[in-house]
Amino acid sequence: MIMHKTIKVAAVAVSLLMGGTLVRQSNAADANEDAIKQVMKDFHKAPKGVDPICKKATEGTASMDEIKKLIASYKVLAKTKAPQGEASSWTEKTKKLIETSMALEKGGADAQAKYKEAVNCKACHSLHKPEDKK
Ligand code: HEC
Repeated sequence: MIMHKTIKVAAVAVSLLMGGTLVRQSNAADANEDAIKQVMKDFHKAPKGVDPICKKATEGTASMDEIKKLIASYKVLAKTKAPQGEASSWTEKTKKLIETSMALEKGGADAQAKYKEAVNCKACHSLHKPEDKK
Protein backbone atom coordinates (compact mmCIF):
# COMPACT_ATOMS: atom_id res chain seq x y z
CA MET A 1 0.00 0.00 0.00
CA ILE A 2 2.63 2.49 1.05
CA MET A 3 4.73 1.52 -1.94
CA HIS A 4 1.81 2.08 -4.20
CA LYS A 5 1.19 5.56 -2.90
CA THR A 6 4.82 6.50 -3.19
CA ILE A 7 4.92 5.44 -6.78
CA LYS A 8 1.84 7.42 -7.56
CA VAL A 9 3.19 10.56 -5.95
CA ALA A 10 6.45 10.15 -7.80
CA ALA A 11 4.63 9.72 -11.09
CA VAL A 12 2.70 12.91 -10.56
CA ALA A 13 5.85 14.80 -9.68
CA VAL A 14 7.58 13.53 -12.78
CA SER A 15 4.66 14.38 -15.00
CA LEU A 16 4.62 17.90 -13.61
CA LEU A 17 8.32 18.31 -14.18
CA MET A 18 8.28 16.86 -17.62
CA GLY A 19 4.93 17.93 -18.96
CA GLY A 20 6.49 18.95 -22.24
CA THR A 21 8.40 15.73 -22.66
CA LEU A 22 5.61 13.45 -21.63
CA VAL A 23 3.13 14.66 -24.17
CA ARG A 24 5.55 13.85 -26.95
CA GLN A 25 5.56 10.20 -26.02
CA SER A 26 3.29 7.91 -27.90
CA ASN A 27 1.49 6.45 -24.90
CA ALA A 28 -0.19 9.47 -24.25
CA ALA A 29 -3.60 10.64 -25.05
CA ASP A 30 -3.97 10.80 -21.29
CA ALA A 31 -0.80 12.70 -20.57
CA ASN A 32 -1.74 15.08 -23.36
CA GLU A 33 -5.13 15.75 -21.86
CA ASP A 34 -3.71 15.98 -18.37
CA ALA A 35 -1.21 18.57 -19.50
CA ILE A 36 -3.97 20.76 -20.92
CA LYS A 37 -6.12 20.38 -17.83
CA GLN A 38 -3.17 21.15 -15.61
CA VAL A 39 -2.54 24.46 -17.37
CA MET A 40 -6.23 25.32 -17.08
CA LYS A 41 -6.24 24.55 -13.38
CA ASP A 42 -2.97 26.23 -12.55
CA PHE A 43 -3.40 29.43 -14.53
CA HIS A 44 -6.91 29.93 -15.84
CA LYS A 45 -8.99 28.82 -12.94
CA ALA A 46 -8.84 29.60 -9.23
CA PRO A 47 -10.93 28.80 -6.18
CA LYS A 48 -13.93 31.02 -5.59
CA GLY A 49 -12.95 34.48 -4.45
CA VAL A 50 -9.40 34.17 -5.76
CA ASP A 51 -8.27 35.69 -9.04
CA PRO A 52 -6.69 33.18 -11.39
CA ILE A 53 -3.21 34.06 -12.57
CA CYS A 54 -4.45 34.80 -16.08
CA LYS A 55 -6.79 37.44 -14.69
CA LYS A 56 -4.06 39.00 -12.60
CA ALA A 57 -1.91 39.04 -15.72
CA THR A 58 -4.52 40.98 -17.68
CA GLU A 59 -4.78 43.45 -14.83
CA GLY A 60 -1.08 43.86 -14.33
CA THR A 61 -1.02 42.41 -10.83
CA ALA A 62 0.68 39.08 -11.59
CA SER A 63 4.21 38.76 -10.22
CA MET A 64 7.19 38.25 -12.53
CA ASP A 65 7.47 34.75 -11.15
CA GLU A 66 3.87 34.01 -12.08
CA ILE A 67 4.37 35.40 -15.57
CA LYS A 68 7.47 33.26 -16.06
CA LYS A 69 5.51 30.17 -15.04
CA LEU A 70 2.70 31.22 -17.34
CA ILE A 71 5.07 31.39 -20.30
CA ALA A 72 6.58 28.00 -19.46
CA SER A 73 3.17 26.40 -19.20
CA TYR A 74 2.00 27.83 -22.52
CA LYS A 75 5.09 26.33 -24.10
CA VAL A 76 3.92 22.99 -22.78
CA LEU A 77 0.41 23.70 -24.02
CA ALA A 78 1.72 24.44 -27.51
CA LYS A 79 3.17 20.93 -27.64
CA THR A 80 -0.12 19.28 -26.83
CA LYS A 81 -2.72 18.18 -29.29
CA ALA A 82 -6.17 19.74 -29.05
CA PRO A 83 -8.78 17.15 -28.09
CA GLN A 84 -10.98 18.64 -30.77
CA GLY A 85 -10.80 21.08 -33.69
CA GLU A 86 -8.26 22.03 -36.34
CA ALA A 87 -4.62 21.49 -35.42
CA SER A 88 -3.68 24.69 -37.22
CA SER A 89 -6.07 26.71 -35.09
CA TRP A 90 -4.68 25.16 -31.90
CA THR A 91 -1.15 25.98 -33.02
CA GLU A 92 -2.12 29.55 -33.75
CA LYS A 93 -3.91 30.07 -30.43
CA THR A 94 -1.23 28.50 -28.28
CA LYS A 95 1.48 30.41 -30.13
CA LYS A 96 -0.38 33.61 -29.46
CA LEU A 97 -0.53 32.76 -25.76
CA ILE A 98 3.24 32.29 -25.72
CA GLU A 99 3.90 35.50 -27.63
CA THR A 100 1.55 37.65 -25.60
CA SER A 101 2.67 36.27 -22.25
CA MET A 102 6.28 36.89 -23.25
CA ALA A 103 5.25 40.46 -24.06
CA LEU A 104 3.86 40.70 -20.54
CA GLU A 105 7.26 39.77 -19.21
CA LYS A 106 8.89 42.51 -21.25
CA GLY A 107 6.19 45.01 -20.42
CA GLY A 108 4.81 47.45 -22.93
CA ALA A 109 1.87 49.61 -23.75
CA ASP A 110 -0.80 47.17 -24.87
CA ALA A 111 0.73 43.91 -23.62
CA GLN A 112 -2.11 43.29 -21.19
CA ALA A 113 -4.84 43.95 -23.75
CA LYS A 114 -3.18 41.61 -26.23
CA TYR A 115 -2.78 38.86 -23.69
CA LYS A 116 -6.40 39.27 -22.69
CA GLU A 117 -7.43 38.73 -26.27
CA ALA A 118 -5.27 35.62 -26.55
CA VAL A 119 -6.57 34.07 -23.35
CA ASN A 120 -10.24 34.36 -24.40
CA CYS A 121 -11.75 31.25 -22.79
CA LYS A 122 -14.79 31.01 -24.97
CA ALA A 123 -13.06 31.57 -28.27
CA CYS A 124 -10.82 28.61 -27.60
CA HIS A 125 -13.27 26.34 -25.80
CA SER A 126 -15.91 26.69 -28.50
CA LEU A 127 -13.47 25.22 -31.02
CA HIS A 128 -11.26 22.95 -28.99
CA LYS A 129 -12.95 21.82 -25.82
CA PRO A 130 -15.14 18.74 -26.24
CA GLU A 131 -18.78 19.49 -25.45
CA ASP A 132 -19.47 16.29 -23.61
CA LYS A 133 -16.77 16.88 -21.07
CA LYS A 134 -16.65 19.19 -18.12
C1 HEC B 1 -5.90 27.99 -26.25
C2 HEC B 1 -7.15 27.37 -25.88
C3 HEC B 1 -7.76 27.60 -24.53
C4 HEC B 1 -7.91 28.78 -23.85
C5 HEC B 1 -7.48 30.16 -24.25
C6 HEC B 1 -8.58 28.45 -22.61
N1 HEC B 1 -8.83 27.09 -22.54
FE1 HEC B 1 -9.68 26.09 -20.98
N2 HEC B 1 -9.53 24.34 -22.01
C7 HEC B 1 -9.03 24.20 -23.28
C8 HEC B 1 -9.20 22.82 -23.72
C9 HEC B 1 -8.77 22.24 -25.05
C10 HEC B 1 -9.84 22.15 -22.68
C11 HEC B 1 -10.28 20.67 -22.65
C12 HEC B 1 -9.24 19.75 -22.10
C13 HEC B 1 -9.73 18.30 -22.16
O1 HEC B 1 -10.80 18.01 -21.62
O2 HEC B 1 -9.04 17.48 -22.77
C14 HEC B 1 -10.01 23.12 -21.61
C15 HEC B 1 -10.57 22.83 -20.37
C16 HEC B 1 -10.78 23.75 -19.37
C17 HEC B 1 -11.29 23.44 -18.04
C18 HEC B 1 -11.65 22.03 -17.55
C19 HEC B 1 -10.39 21.39 -16.98
C20 HEC B 1 -10.62 19.97 -16.48
O3 HEC B 1 -9.97 19.59 -15.51
O4 HEC B 1 -11.43 19.24 -17.09
C21 HEC B 1 -11.38 24.61 -17.35
C22 HEC B 1 -11.84 24.79 -15.93
C23 HEC B 1 -10.92 25.67 -18.23
N3 HEC B 1 -10.55 25.11 -19.43
C24 HEC B 1 -10.88 26.99 -17.89
C25 HEC B 1 -10.47 28.01 -18.76
C26 HEC B 1 -10.64 29.42 -18.48
C27 HEC B 1 -11.30 30.00 -17.23
C28 HEC B 1 -10.10 30.08 -19.54
C29 HEC B 1 -10.03 31.58 -19.78
C30 HEC B 1 -9.49 32.41 -18.75
C31 HEC B 1 -9.59 29.09 -20.48
N4 HEC B 1 -9.86 27.85 -19.97
C32 HEC B 1 -8.95 29.39 -21.65
C33 HEC B 1 -8.44 25.19 -24.04
C34 HEC B 1 -8.36 26.54 -23.71
